[in-house]
Amino acid sequence: MTRVLSCIQPTGDVHLGNYLGALRNWVAGQHEKDVYHGIVDLHALTVTTQPNVVGEATLSLAAMLFAIGLDPNVATIFVQSHVPEHSQLGWVMECTVSFGELSRMTQFKEKSARREADFVSAGLFTYPALQAADIVLYDADEVPVGDDQRQHIEITRDIAIRFNSRFGDTFVVPAAVTPTAGARVMDLQAPTSKMSKSSDTDSGCVYMLDDPKAIEKKFKRAVTDSEAVVAYDLKEKPGVSNLLDILSAASGTPVATLADQYSQYGPLKSDAASAVISMLEPIQARYHELMDDQAELARLLAVGADRAREQASATLSRAYRAIGLLSN
Ligand code: TYM
Repeated sequence: MTRVLSCIQPTGDVHLGNYLGALRNWVAGQHEKDVYHGIVDLHALTVTTQPNVVGEATLSLAAMLFAIGLDPNVATIFVQSHVPEHSQLGWVMECTVSFGELSRMTQFKEKSARREADFVSAGLFTYPALQAADIVLYDADEVPVGDDQRQHIEITRDIAIRFNSRFGDTFVVPAAVTPTAGARVMDLQAPTSKMSKSSDTDSGCVYMLDDPKAIEKKFKRAVTDSEAVVAYDLKEKPGVSNLLDILSAASGTPVATLADQYSQYGPLKSDAASAVISMLEPIQARYHELMDDQAELARLLAVGADRAREQASATLSRAYRAIGLLSN
């Protein structure tokens, strides 16, 4: 059975980009594939400076993952810090990737530039090594992610291949899987930048917990262009293309069909907003129910951690044996 692994950071609130680019595919895959999904709190430490914030965000993210339909009976949902093998194999991965390779990571360059006057942790630089550990620990064949994570999956492949050639066949070499619509949801206010928790304003980012009024407002104000022609053209018409992409992902209608259906921006914006609102409504209701029973959430995460550790500890031992570390 195909093994799937993907993770999300508990930093800020979950947004439409996370959902359409990745999370929705996690749900779709859970019944045909053997799926592991992590809330990667240790990755969040790369930018954390306040106490208690990450723990609360972790619990809320767990509620969101169950609310979108991940079923704890079939999907293994775990918190990264509950499975110490991630940190242990992370070090091995750091020793299998070069300084030069890490220096070429676009996300590091962008994030460190954004934090220019701020503290740039060494963890922000070595982050892809920990991500590689997250993936290979579970013998993952597929990693369902948004487009922005492709480079991190590529470097994971390079690391796994290098380890295998140094120490013998140990790790499965994974492949990234991205959706046809929604792989790169752009900021509604700045459609050449991806929708992100760290964008300058909230008005371009649609959060999973936004109320219908806020969603309508954000779509209504979405930046388009002055041409008044509905067409899918990422280069010349990024704003309109983003709206078509979101509506396509939310409604299931192909982008090309939608582009023919609309001749004005107004109806395209309001239909995109309505499609998103109806997609999110049941998720929001379920999220609030789950957040009312935090003890149950903690129990589900403990079950996930046990299942994840079983797999992760077997892989870590295999890697240590392949290297030939002295056993204790
Ligand atoms: P993170 O937490 O930033 O995002 C979680 C997932 O959401 C996708 N995503 C998007 N997809 C489309 N459009 C967008 N605007 C958009 N923004 C985010 C991301 O591609 C991702 O799939 N480094 C990872 C977390 C991670 C991970 C892993 C992922 C750690 N270990 C192992 C896969 C496998 C990250 O920061 O994702």
